[in-house]
Amino acid sequence: MSYNNSHDRCSNLEEQQDSEFTQIIDMSVSRRTFLTGMGALGLGAFVATTPLAQSVHAAMNSKVQSSLIGFNPIVASTADTVVVPEGYKVTNLISWGDPLFESAPEFDPSGNAPASSQAQQFGDNTDGMSLFAVDDDRAVLAVNNEYTNNDLLYHHQGENMTADDVLKAQNAHGVSVFEIKKTAAGWKVDRSGKLNRRITANTPMKLTGPAAGHDLLKTAADSSGTEVLGTFNNCANGETPWGTYLTCEENFHNYFGTEDGFYEVSERQKRYGINTTDKRYQWSKFDERFDLSKNPNEPNRHGWVVEIDPMDPDSAPLKRTALGRFKHENAALMIDNSGHVVVYLGDDERGEHLYKFVSKGKFNATSGTANRDLLAEGTLYVAKFEAAEGELKGRGKWIELSFGKNGLTPENGFNSQAEVLIYTRQAATQVGATTMDRPEWVAVHPNKLSVCCTLTNNKNRGKKENQPVGGPNPRAENRYGQIVRWSPVNGDHTAHEFSWDLFVIAGNPSVHREGLLAGSSNITTENMFNSPDGLGFDKDGRLWIMTDGQYSNKDGFAGMGNNQMLCGDPETGEIHRFLVGPIACEVTGLAFSPDQRTMFVGIQHPGEKGQPSHFPGGGESKPRSTIVMITREDGGIIGA
Ligand code: FEO
Ligand code: CA
Ligand code: CA
Repeated sequence: MSYNNSHDRCSNLEEQQDSEFTQIIDMSVSRRTFLTGMGALGLGAFVATTPLAQSVHAAMNSKVQSSLIGFNPIVASTADTVVVPEGYKVTNLISWGDPLFESAPEFDPSGNAPASSQAQQFGDNTDGMSLFAVDDDRAVLAVNNEYTNNDLLYHHQGENMTADDVLKAQNAHGVSVFEIKKTAAGWKVDRSGKLNRRITANTPMKLTGPAAGHDLLKTAADSSGTEVLGTFNNCANGETPWGTYLTCEENFHNYFGTEDGFYEVSERQKRYGINTTDKRYQWSKFDERFDLSKNPNEPNRHGWVVEIDPMDPDSAPLKRTALGRFKHENAALMIDNSGHVVVYLGDDERGEHLYKFVSKGKFNATSGTANRDLLAEGTLYVAKFEAAEGELKGRGKWIELSFGKNGLTPENGFNSQAEVLIYTRQAATQVGATTMDRPEWVAVHPNKLSVCCTLTNNKNRGKKENQPVGGPNPRAENRYGQIVRWSPVNGDHTAHEFSWDLFVIAGNPSVHREGLLAGSSNITTENMFNSPDGLGFDKDGRLWIMTDGQYSNKDGFAGMGNNQMLCGDPETGEIHRFLVGPIACEVTGLAFSPDQRTMFVGIQHPGEKGQPSHFPGGGESKPRSTIVMITREDGGIIGA
């Protein structure tokens, strides 16, 4: 989910009402060419990803061929409910405003509840989440609460803001950490859990790594440049094998502003979308930390990946500056065969980039504490994709973002590694990184041989000079999105080279008979979707795809229905629809119980922008972001 000025979910409704769906048909690469191209993927020393089979398209129209996927795919839906396959059921776990502590008040739908209530309740707009098992029957769930909706949060819908209203919104942001326990009736929230915690936009945390303490991170309240309050616009997530949670700060720019007419936003800040108007959240009017003229460096203290220990509710979250500052989507962390920690990271904005962090130290499987600072120090890289014209596969390079290398020098405006990290976007431009169609989630296959990233959409592709059509971004004014997949050379994730292809190009074959707008060969009238966003592999290698797209079900989006979740088989290329969400929601956030028999899925912002949803309560109730649990009636593994 995003609410920024250059790529925003706010604009989705406007785009849906725009009957003139731009039918740019780039016929230079047809569906047939795509198939042939994939089949011809021969990469020498590279570990080749599995080519999509020519037979997939025909098979897709009949039945599931994949041995990984065992459910009966469902049809598109526009109903105000969560739809799942036959033999599956849906149970609600927790909704925005539900108590997280025994002493917490129940949700008050009036919009009049004070900030103090929200501080003890589940935050709004559930997004990325991770499950940390304690034992077979207990676990801790760490969940991002990305943003707030004024029309739902306040009885005055944001028209008459007070300081307590701002605090209430700040308390609805951040991360909710809570214990869950398994009962005969399934998993339940344990309000008495000792690990239950709300991390908000005001929780004390520390800046760590190469940029910590730099002058650009110092403010009136923190002359050290290392002590910061809070995290907000927490999009998706990651987790580490040493038991910590990673929360990613995405559209942090929207929370800053000033009424000082003389304040000028620097060019460097403009690249991050910082501007003086703060009409939506209005934090800067009531909390001077967010007033740019009073605290011009405060935005530099946000836009990081934050590491949280879910097992220690007193621990200070740690902002990891070594992983760069941008609009972080998620953090896909894996341990390379060499022992180095590798984290793949997307920067979700039109024409921004895809990154990789490699830790300096190595993971020690026998010592949890020795691993705790592995994300403090390492090397950041940005991706440059290469392809012959019209090819939907190719090679690529990871370009190092280290001070003194690749033009990251004082002559080009970079005076230290801290500056390279604080202005990561400018560093990526300096080294010639590929501008992407909004990199959202990244997911690493459990066999470690391939990595996928959702490129959700990009209406600027082909319209802006720095965003030419080609390579992994093959369509002008891309409204449907695609998933790029790469394999590191020789299976080495610390290597500087990779090969890539596209796992899927989303499209609408019922509206567009041919060409890339019809989608790749593994898209049919039965599984079509747009704007892939959330992404995750389960332990068996099923690829779960969640969407945050146009739900008008009209024009170029006819037949796609509400936002949904699909399941892909990376071997065969098949994709089948598994779940459809309620009206005007985004499906985002995915976790599994250790036995893979319960899937936790985030249903974010049902009924956004006044759309007619009453999920999950039904009747005339206020729509509420909710985590649902998917189980099988026969108790089996989800998806199998
Ligand atoms: Fe929070 Fe890019 O989605
Ligand atoms: Ca997202
Ligand atoms: Ca999105």
